[in-house]
Amino acid sequence: MKAIIYVFSGTGNTKRICSLYKDEFEKNGVDTTLFSVTSDMSDLPHPADFDLVGFAYPIHAFNAPNIMLKLAKAIDKVSNKEIFILKSSGEPLKINNISSLKFMGIMKKKGYVLKSEYHYVMPYDMIFRHTDREAVKMWETAKALAPVEAREVLAGKEHKLKRIFLGGFIAWVMRIEHPTMRWNGRSFRVNKDKCIMCRKCEKNCPVNNIRIDEDGKFHFAGDCLMCTRCSFGCPTDAFSIGILNNWRINGAYPLDKTVDDSVPEPKHHHHWYCKKAYIKYFKNAELKINQEK
Ligand SMILES: Cc1cc2nc3c(=O)[nH]c(=O)nc-3n(C[C@H](O)[C@H](O)[C@H](O)COP(=O)(O)O)c2cc1C
Ligand code: SF4
Ligand code: SF4
Repeated sequence: MKAIIYVFSGTGNTKRICSLYKDEFEKNGVDTTLFSVTSDMSDLPHPADFDLVGFAYPIHAFNAPNIMLKLAKAIDKVSNKEIFILKSSGEPLKINNISSLKFMGIMKKKGYVLKSEYHYVMPYDMIFRHTDREAVKMWETAKALAPVEAREVLAGKEHKLKRIFLGGFIAWVMRIEHPTMRWNGRSFRVNKDKCIMCRKCEKNCPVNNIRIDEDGKFHFAGDCLMCTRCSFGCPTDAFSIGILNNWRINGAYPLDKTVDDSVPEPKHHHHWYCKKAYIKYFKNAELKINQEK
C-alpha cells in the first residue's frame, strides 16, 4: 500500500504533524511520501498512483494558504478519489473549520471526495509567541493524538469537522488575505546592521519571493504567501514584515524541551486568549488518546 501527503508548511508545524502520520502509516506497512508543495507545480505526483492521498496545510486567516488553492487547480483530475486533510493552526476555534471549504470546492470538481479532516493546534508563527510550556504541550498532544487519528485514516473512518453558520461567506471575505499579503510582501525590509547575509531567507522562500543581488540588495517580488518562513527563521531577526510587523515572531520553539509542570508559569499578556477553547481541545484530545489505551 502506498500513501502520499501533499504538504505546505511555512515554519514546520504542519510538516511535523505529517511526519507523525508518515511514521504511523509506515509502522502499519504503508510506504508514505511527504511531497512538499512549492510554487513549481510542473511535476506533481499523480494522486491516482497512491492508495491513500492526503493534503496538509497551516490555516491562514481561516483559509488554506493560496498555494494550496493553486495546487488544487494544478492537480490531475481523478474519478471519485477519497482524500484526507490535515491542518495545523495556532488557536482551536471552530471557525478554523471553514478553512477547507474553498480548497474542497475546487477539489470536488476534479473528482476528489473528502473522507476525513483533522486539525492540530500548534504554536503560533505569527500574532503572538506562545510560551515554551504551551508550545511543548501542543506538540506533546499532537505526538499522542496524530498516531490515533492516522490509524483512523488507515481504517477508512469518516471524520468531518463541524461547519459554522455563514462559514463559506466568512472564508470568502477573509480570502482578502491572499492579495493583501502579496502586496504586503513587497514592503518587507531587512535591517542591514543585523543581517549576516546567510541567505537562508532567499534559499528557503517557497515561492522565490526574495532575491539578494550581487550588491547585497534585497528584492521582494509580489508572490508572498505570508508563510513567515523568512522572518521566523532569520537567525538574527533582521526581517520586518510590512503591515504585520507587530505580529512578527522570530525563532523556533523548543518543542522537545522538558518542562516542569510543578513550577507555576508567570502570567503573560495573552493568558486569557481563547482559554476555554484551548482547555476543550486538550481535554478532547486526552479523551481520545486514552480511549485507545
Ligand atoms: C498569515 C497567517 C495567518 C494565520 N491565520 C491563522 C488563523 O486564521 N487561525 C489560526 O488558528 N492560526 C492562524 N495562523 C497560525 C498558523 O496557522 C499556525 O502557527 C500554524 O501551525 C503554522 O504552521 P506551519 O509552521 O506549518 O506554517 C496564521 C499564521 C499566519 C502566518
Ligand atoms: S535570513 Fe536573515 S540574516 Fe540571513 S540573509 Fe536573510 S535577512 Fe540576512
Ligand atoms: S517572502 Fe517570506 S513570508 Fe513571503 S512567501 Fe517567502 S518566505 Fe514566506
